[in-house]
Amino acid sequence: MTNFLWLARDRREILQLALAGGALGAFSATPFAALGQTMAGEKMKIATIGAGREGGALGTLFAKAGHPVMFSSRKPEELKDLVASAGPMARAGTVAEAVEFGDVVFLVVPYAAIEQIGKDHGKALAGKQLVIDVSNPIARRDGDDLVKSVEQQGGAGLVTAKLIPGVHLVRAFNAINFAALAKDANRAGDPVAIPMAGDDQKAIELASRLIKEIGFEPVLVGGLDKGKYLVPGTPLGGEHTPAEIREIAAKLS
Ligand SMILES: NC(=O)c1ccc[n+]([C@@H]2O[C@H](COP(=O)([O-])OP(=O)(O)OC[C@H]3O[C@@H](n4cnc5c(N)ncnc54)[C@H](OP(=O)(O)O)[C@@H]3O)[C@@H](O)[C@H]2O)c1
Repeated sequence: MTNFLWLARDRREILQLALAGGALGAFSATPFAALGQTMAGEKMKIATIGAGREGGALGTLFAKAGHPVMFSSRKPEELKDLVASAGPMARAGTVAEAVEFGDVVFLVVPYAAIEQIGKDHGKALAGKQLVIDVSNPIARRDGDDLVKSVEQQGGAGLVTAKLIPGVHLVRAFNAINFAALAKDANRAGDPVAIPMAGDDQKAIELASRLIKEIGFEPVLVGGLDKGKYLVPGTPLGGEHTPAEIREIAAKLS
C-alpha cells in the first residue's frame, strides 16, 4: 500500500487511491488513516481505555476538537454523562470495542491494569498507529510491590513496552493533572508544554500533532527510558512552559 502512496503525485491523488480501497476506508475515520498515513488536520478515531478523571478530560478535548472518540471502561453503561458532556463526536463502548475502533488508543487506567490489557488486547494494540500511555504506577493505588518492580525494570516507559510488545508507543500527559488539562487546553498566549517520551519516530510525530491540536506544546524529553520521569512528583510534573521543560529535561540522567 505504501507503494501506491509513492506513486501518487499529490494529496488529491492519494485520496482517490485510498477511496478506491473502499473496504479499508470503512475501518478508519479517513482513508489516510486506513493507509497508515496521516495528514495535518486529519480527524483520527481516538479510543480511551479508562474514562475516569484523566481519560474523560483527554477524550473530551479530542471530541471537542472534532475527532471521533470512544470512551471505554469495564462499565461503559456508566459513561452516559461523560459522553453527553463531550458532545456529538463522543460515544462509549467496552474495552474490546474501543480497541477495535481506535486508530489512536490512550491507556488511562491504574497502572496495575496494564499487564492484563496487554494480555487481552496486545495483538490488536500493536496494529494501531499510536498508543499513548498516560498511566502511572502509584503506590497508594497500585501497591508498593508493583511500583518497586516498575522502578527496577527502568520505569513505566520500558515496562509498558514490555507488557504490550510491538505497539507504537509514546508516554505523554502523565504529569499533568486532569483539571489543569481542561483549564490549559487551547489557552491564549504561550501554550503549556506536554513532555513526552518515545522511541518510535512516526508515533512521536502523530502524538505531537494531536497534542498541538488541543492547544498544548509537545516537548520530547527522550526515549522510553525517560518515561520514568513522566509521573507526578518529578521535576517534569505539573504545568511548565516548553522552555522550562527543555531546561529540566537537559538535566535528566
Ligand atoms: N487524575 C489525573 O489528574 C491524572 C493525571 C495524569 C495521569 N493520570 C494517570 O491516569 C490513570 C487514570 O487516572 P484517573 O485519575 O483518570 O483514574 P480514575 O478516575 O480512577 O479512572 C480510572 C479509569 O480506568 C478504568 N479502569 C480501571 N481498571 C480497568 C481495567 N482493568 N480495564 C479497563 N478500564 C479500567 C476505570 O473504569 P472501571 O473501573 O469502570 O473499569 C476508570 O474509567 C492513572 O494511571 C493515573 O496515574 C492521572
